[in-house]
Amino acid sequence: MREDLLSVSYQSDAVKPQAEAFARQHQLTLTSPEQASTPLLLHYSEDFVELRDRDESTAIHVDFLKGDMAHRKQFGGGRGQSIAKAIGLKSGVQPPSVLDATAGLARDAYVLASLGCAITMLEQSPVVAELVQQAIDRASENADFQLIQQQGFKLINDNAIHYMQQLAEHEKPDVVYLDPMFPERKKSAQVKKNMQILQKLLGHGDDIESLLDIALSCALKRVVVKRPKGAPCIGEHKPSMAIETKKMRYDVYVNAAMKAA
Ligand SMILES: C[S@@+](CC[C@H](N)C(=O)[O-])C[C@H]1O[C@@H](n2cnc3c(N)ncnc32)[C@H](O)[C@@H]1O
Repeated sequence: MREDLLSVSYQSDAVKPQAEAFARQHQLTLTSPEQASTPLLLHYSEDFVELRDRDESTAIHVDFLKGDMAHRKQFGGGRGQSIAKAIGLKSGVQPPSVLDATAGLARDAYVLASLGCAITMLEQSPVVAELVQQAIDRASENADFQLIQQQGFKLINDNAIHYMQQLAEHEKPDVVYLDPMFPERKKSAQVKKNMQILQKLLGHGDDIESLLDIALSCALKRVVVKRPKGAPCIGEHKPSMAIETKKMRYDVYVNAAMKAA
């Protein structure tokens, strides 16, 4: 990880050991927010861990219990949502197991988990994975969140290509979900802010064609790729169908029909 891009800080002694452990593991400077000199700062507070963009004075964090993730869980439209249709969730069908191979800030994964799917999330960036894992740890005292965890909601910090290549037959998920990085594809200020910080941290390059190839050989039922509206499909494979919303499109590659409940 680039020491000139990112450093680590903490708010209080209660979270100092976690901040120290992350900084040590990734050979990053542990500093105070006032003395930080890198463009990005991973800051541990008692409520959450946030990634700050010091140049833009913005920050992102993950919180499964408050804010727009909790709001979308409660009011997002249940199985009527396009993402639910894309993964094949409809009445009379058992919620599929989903491998979210590009987990990012786990927003989509949490929507799918809230709809009853068992989710495994893969995230290659240790920093993004830390934002999500710390949010999971902090939410895990909450009874509703515990139900989601019991049904299956876990994060693995690994490259999805590597992970999917070594999956045994009995470990294969029903659905692989892919949401590759794409610059400036959404209009809301919040999403733009998330994307700008992630792009500063990660750059733009996903190996999406290889991801799709391996996902197609790994998904028992289907692969879903989230695309900006109007963007071309990925590589040579033709989707079986596409589900469009106002701002985006889900390309669906069907391998087999979903199981009846
Ligand atoms: C656009 S974000 C996903 C946002 C996510 N759907 C959400 O709702 O928050 C894409 C993420 O995929 C991750 N990613 C890209 N290629 C990957 C790979 N091969 N393995 C694991 N993660 C990957 C990036 O690090 C980035 O965090």
